[in-house]
Amino acid sequence: MTIDINTRLARFEDLIPSKVPFVEGKLKGHQDRSNYSIVGPGVSEDSKQNVKIAEAHGFNIGAVSAASMNGSGLHSHTTAEVFLIFSGSWRFYWGSDGKEGEVILHKGDVASFPTNMFRGFQNISDDEAYMVVVLGENDPGVITWTPKVIKDAKDTGMVLLNDNSLIDLDKQKIPEGKKALEPLHENDLHQFDHYTSDEIEKFVIRSSDSQRYIEDDEHFNSNSIINYLDELSLHEKTFKPHIPHHTGFGLSLLTGKDAHIHSYQSKKSEAFLCLDGKWEITCDDQKVIIGPRDTFSAPKNSIRSVKQISDEVGSLFLVRQKN
Ligand SMILES: [Fe+2]
Repeated sequence: MTIDINTRLARFEDLIPSKVPFVEGKLKGHQDRSNYSIVGPGVSEDSKQNVKIAEAHGFNIGAVSAASMNGSGLHSHTTAEVFLIFSGSWRFYWGSDGKEGEVILHKGDVASFPTNMFRGFQNISDDEAYMVVVLGENDPGVITWTPKVIKDAKDTGMVLLNDNSLIDLDKQKIPEGKKALEPLHENDLHQFDHYTSDEIEKFVIRSSDSQRYIEDDEHFNSNSIINYLDELSLHEKTFKPHIPHHTGFGLSLLTGKDAHIHSYQSKKSEAFLCLDGKWEITCDDQKVIIGPRDTFSAPKNSIRSVKQISDEVGSLFLVRQKN
């Protein structure tokens, strides 16, 4: 079967972001942000959010770009949330008051946050910064906000309804038969988990520490691999994951000037995300070239291969469906 390669390609310049993707999207510190749905809708609360590749992959890929000192308010997920930093410096903070701990991440860093804990993030660089967010499962469900976020958002007219739809009271009324979602009570906050900064650090892999994690693909000696999540099999070698989370997807980074993976067939969906360089991806009998911030998704059962073709060292994230 011939695929239409364009339906699998998400060039960054073609993505259409939501500017008010979530309930806190009109608040200071959250208003200067764009949310992208690259594979699947993710957890966007904007019913008009454009989704570039809608097919179920077993995971969702989204992205956020934010101006300096902007980002997301405190919220919790029911499935995995893994951040891949593409540019700038980002501060992640957590706990129902946002004061339990923090980590600061830079380009090439990866962090997997546990479910059932409140987390927020902000771009602490001077300029716009961009990161990719991978969420677990075909349907990552809905996110839960701290009571403060819901209350502060209401002052800007933004209200989540009990069916999780988002409305702007400046533009529309609450439809008949629906009502505003009540913020969580203080007592409900006890159901959420707590982590120290040291505990979260176990789920973080920094580019500056990459020598601790890089493994060479002995067969071709041109590939440096960091395997973050789930076991990776490549050129008859297996790589163990460095982050002990069961997210339902695999995540690895392939780096090198001549980095490449020879043809292989897989029954699973697999997404390739370019961090640096230029990558030629062959999928069955078609070729595509992706650059920084572009994504290509190889469909189930396709025969695929990748190679770095720029004069520089390139890096490519691989997100693999597991289930
Ligand atoms: Fe999130």
